[in-house]
Amino acid sequence: MAFEKVCTLDDVWEGEMEVFTTSNGTEVLILGLDGGGIRAIQSICPHQEIELVEGEFDGKALTCKAHLWQFDVETGKGINPDDCAVAQYPVKIEGDDVLVDVTGIKPLKSHS
Ligand code: FES
Repeated sequence: MAFEKVCTLDDVWEGEMEVFTTSNGTEVLILGLDGGGIRAIQSICPHQEIELVEGEFDGKALTCKAHLWQFDVETGKGINPDDCAVAQYPVKIEGDDVLVDVTGIKPLKSHS
């Protein structure tokens, strides 16, 4: 596997997020950061099987709707609790296309 297009910049504006599926069936949550920049992270919360896209995203931090765990989308690290993290996928922008590479990256799970 390598980088592949999952969406365009028009699909994810600043402060927005959306789930896209790669050709191998990996669900990737694409987020538009405040001030520009795109991040790609695992779509499922590391806590339990909840879709992160159903949570709240303020352009910097993503809050899971289930138990309000919060993640810094820029780094993938947990804000609260701070001993968790979400897997990040490398992102490449080509023109208006957003490409991700999910090779060898598995979603993280955390303590419950
Ligand atoms: S499932 Fe996301 S915080 Fe519990």
